[in-house]
Amino acid sequence: MSDAAQPLLSVKDVTLQYPAEDRVVTAVHRLSFDVYPSERFVLLGPSGCGKSTLLKAIGGFMAPVAGEMTLGETLITTPGPDRAFVFQEFDQLLPWKTVLGNILFPLVTGGMPATEATERARVYISKVGLEKFADSYPHTLSGGMKQRVAIARAMAMEPEILLMDEPFAALDELTRFRLDDDLRAIWQQQGCTIVFVTHSVTEAAYLAERALVMQAGRLQQEITIDQSARDDGFRSSRVFAQASAALSQALGFNHESKQA
Ligand SMILES: Nc1ncnc2c1ncn2[C@@H]1O[C@H](COP(=O)(O)OP(=O)(O)OP(=O)(O)O)[C@@H](O)[C@H]1O
Ligand SMILES: [Mg+2]
Repeated sequence: MSDAAQPLLSVKDVTLQYPAEDRVVTAVHRLSFDVYPSERFVLLGPSGCGKSTLLKAIGGFMAPVAGEMTLGETLITTPGPDRAFVFQEFDQLLPWKTVLGNILFPLVTGGMPATEATERARVYISKVGLEKFADSYPHTLSGGMKQRVAIARAMAMEPEILLMDEPFAALDELTRFRLDDDLRAIWQQQGCTIVFVTHSVTEAAYLAERALVMQAGRLQQEITIDQSARDDGFRSSRVFAQASAALSQALGFNHESKQA
């Protein structure tokens, strides 16, 4: 990201509320941030701090009561194929379609000719290492494999921005580490822009170039993580430990290994 770059996503003074019977729940309060092209941007915060609500609004599923969000030059008012989602739930795939069928579905319903869609789907199946499972149905796959399919499906849409809401939170730690690694590798190849929600300090420290720490719907701190020393041993590096400590501190914890 260069300083002169224009933001891809701009969130300006945004407030998001849910109307309840006798009161209004303010999930996000006057939040502002920018995400730049090809950035890995992480939203970190404890349960209930408004992360999913914010992602929903960026997705165009919920309108701000104040402030505005723009993607490029366009004001976000509705969902669109320029924003693709990956969720935590393993059941986000269509159970009656194969891996290939799941990835083809949004492409073909979006009007892409079948041959081109199949070619593209196969490229992304191979990026997530599932070539041998193209004809398998979701119920025959592990949780980690299902999440890989969901990532391939979202990336195959070649959106402007990939919105990921705790996609690996339901996986065991080793599988999560592997998928975090793979996501970074795919990102390096593709240069896609990712907004990644997590409540894991270590996942945020590992994935983020920049992390926004949220508390109770508000911006707590924005932390930039040094990328200059990245290599295969990043998880045991001083930069990683320092980033984890800074993120923990922003969340109000003092010990670097604590989770939000
Ligand atoms: N549909 C809804 N109706 C009313 N209130 C809601 C609704 N969805 C979320 N909220 C409230 O908005 C606040 C933010 O919720 P949100 O789901 O965005 O949190 P989160 O940071 O994603 O939490 P988690 O880490 O547990 O997923 C919470 O107080 C929650 O109770
Ligand atoms: Mg959530």
